[in-house]
Amino acid sequence: MSAVLSTLRSTDFMAWREARQAAVEQALCDGVPSEAPAGLGDAMRYAVLDGGKRLRPLLVLATSETLGGQPLAAMRAACAVELIHAYSLVHDDMPCMDNDVLRRGKPTVHVQFGEAQALLAGDALQALAFELLVPDDGTVQPVMAARLCRLLALAAGAGGMAGGQAIDLASVGHALDQPALEAMHRQKTGALLQASVMMGAATAQVSPATEAHLAEYGACVGLAFQVVDDILDVTADSATLGKTAGKDAAADKPTFVSLMGLTSAQAYADRVLDQAHEALRCSGIARPDTLHALADWVGRRDS
Ligand code: IPE
Ligand code: IPE
Ligand code: MG
Ligand code: MG
Ligand code: MG
Repeated sequence: MSAVLSTLRSTDFMAWREARQAAVEQALCDGVPSEAPAGLGDAMRYAVLDGGKRLRPLLVLATSETLGGQPLAAMRAACAVELIHAYSLVHDDMPCMDNDVLRRGKPTVHVQFGEAQALLAGDALQALAFELLVPDDGTVQPVMAARLCRLLALAAGAGGMAGGQAIDLASVGHALDQPALEAMHRQKTGALLQASVMMGAATAQVSPATEAHLAEYGACVGLAFQVVDDILDVTADSATLGKTAGKDAAADKPTFVSLMGLTSAQAYADRVLDQAHEALRCSGIARPDTLHALADWVGRRDS
């Protein structure tokens, strides 16, 4: 993998990351209400707060900051994409999908609150994501808000995450070939990560050419992210992951590890991340260091 971190010291990246993770945590804490009927707010906050790497918000914020975008709009977009992600995890863990009992080091939402409440918490988080993008205080201009909503809706829906999850469930017990597996990963996980980058870009003024390079960067980071998730499911332990390891093989899911083995899957992820770095190099963006560092982080994370 390209050694691009040399342009941004890893301690600087870590400081940037921790500061943004804390800011996102605070914004989510402020933005997800506990007041909702019959304990629904408690389930929503349990699903979202105090956990997760916040990679999608970090991609939004890094892209926006790199391009000189509007900070208030960027933070709303960062929270919105994390809410969609959190909702997707709540539903992904339910017995009708992956049937997982551990998430972010805690019992899953349906284990803690019951299946019906988990379903509703996911529904409500999805609605709240779009509400955040259209504030009535003038902090996000209507044209920008509409663009952000469209990007998020496309990535979350049938052509993105939800469609990819449908393919995932329909593929249990089937040996997908590489193009089919790649298509599934691009949808179920890649779409939301790519949208995070594009939403960050939508908070700024960018040329169509720069936007196209960023779309390629986001797509590569998104695909590599799910390949690494497949690898970690095999190589990491549940305590480190904060979720049950070894679930993919146990559920007979096609993954990059089942397709090509661990070593080739890691080499494949590295190649895709090289493409992400190359897209940034071609973009003409003046200081893409943080975006390079985020791509590196995706490749060498341990959870
Ligand atoms: C897990 O995503 C689900 C996938 C899309 C692979 P993350 O690994 O980003 O989960 P958190 O947000 O850090 O918990
Ligand atoms: C989930 O993929 C992708 C989502 C859209 C939530 P996985 O099922 O592999 O995610 P984990 O491993 O449970 O986090
Ligand atoms: Mg799943
Ligand atoms: Mg799962
Ligand atoms: Mg997984």
